[in-house]
Amino acid sequence: MPVSSQLQSFISSYQQRVNHALEKYLHDMPSPDPRLSEAMLYSLTGPGKRIRPLLVYAAGLATDVGNEQQLDTPACAVEMIHAFSLIHDDLPAMDNDDLRRGRATCHKAFDEATAILAGDALQTMAFEILSNDASGLSGDQRLKMIAQLASATGARGMTGGQAIDLAAVGSQLTLEQLEAMHGLKTGALIRASVIIGGLCNPDVTKSELDMLDNYAQCIGLCFQIQDDILDVTSDTATLGKPQGSDQKQGKPTYSAILGLDAAKQLAQEQHNKAIAHLVPLGEKANILRQIADYIIERDC
Ligand code: IPE
Ligand code: IPE
Ligand code: MG
Ligand code: MG
Ligand code: MG
Repeated sequence: MPVSSQLQSFISSYQQRVNHALEKYLHDMPSPDPRLSEAMLYSLTGPGKRIRPLLVYAAGLATDVGNEQQLDTPACAVEMIHAFSLIHDDLPAMDNDDLRRGRATCHKAFDEATAILAGDALQTMAFEILSNDASGLSGDQRLKMIAQLASATGARGMTGGQAIDLAAVGSQLTLEQLEAMHGLKTGALIRASVIIGGLCNPDVTKSELDMLDNYAQCIGLCFQIQDDILDVTSDTATLGKPQGSDQKQGKPTYSAILGLDAAKQLAQEQHNKAIAHLVPLGEKANILRQIADYIIERDC
């Protein structure tokens, strides 16, 4: 099923918006080391889907955030964390991949040390911009966002999930362990992106945040199941990263453990659950619904 024209126009307009904001941050906050700045620019502004910033904007829409400008810094912060995670994920000590977003990975285009440092710098920049943001978010809102993003990124979030992923290579995880790993390595940042979008409304209710969180947990899992499926079914040119990398390395994935058909079915079930969690939010959650569709229909 093709992406709806409403979602297509949302994607192009907000991708452009966040890309512009990301470039501005890098331009305004250069490193004294030009090579480091160049590596950060290379990885942060490479042609990715920007799904996490899109989720920040869509969650803002779903919770009546009136001032769109207030979503820009949080949207940039989650993409900075994501770019950092990809740079490190591709390193020889981790997945050892040479291609990302259709181009050489950061450590190939530059060198390993520069890639490690570019990842470090992008990670801290995310917290720096959130703490300095002058667009009208209160200190309390920004502190909550920083707490969300820090725990989603750290040892109890993405980093912890990546550690489990590496330790599990070659071993057989149970379905429960696989779900827990995916929930951390990919789900945590997706969850934080959706919640942070909601936190841009100072009057957001606990029940709205809970709905967003339940939705986000389901699409987070869906997102990584689809990523695992595409490693088998897609091709390198479409993906912009090496197809078959998981299989080659004996990674614990949904397609490896369940088989393709069951993995697809599980992704569909999580998608349906995600949509059901949004019912009370009504029409204003339409973009979030369409993003859930896109996550399981995407081919890259
Ligand atoms: C890839 O993320 C890494 C995973 C968490 C599966 P994306 O598929 O969002 O990558 P880009 O940002 O579009 O390149
Ligand atoms: C990576 O998962 C999750 C991250 C935290 C980056 P993968 O290793 O499956 O991501 P890809 O397939 O390389 O994009
Ligand atoms: Mg990996
Ligand atoms: Mg990888
Ligand atoms: Mg993958």
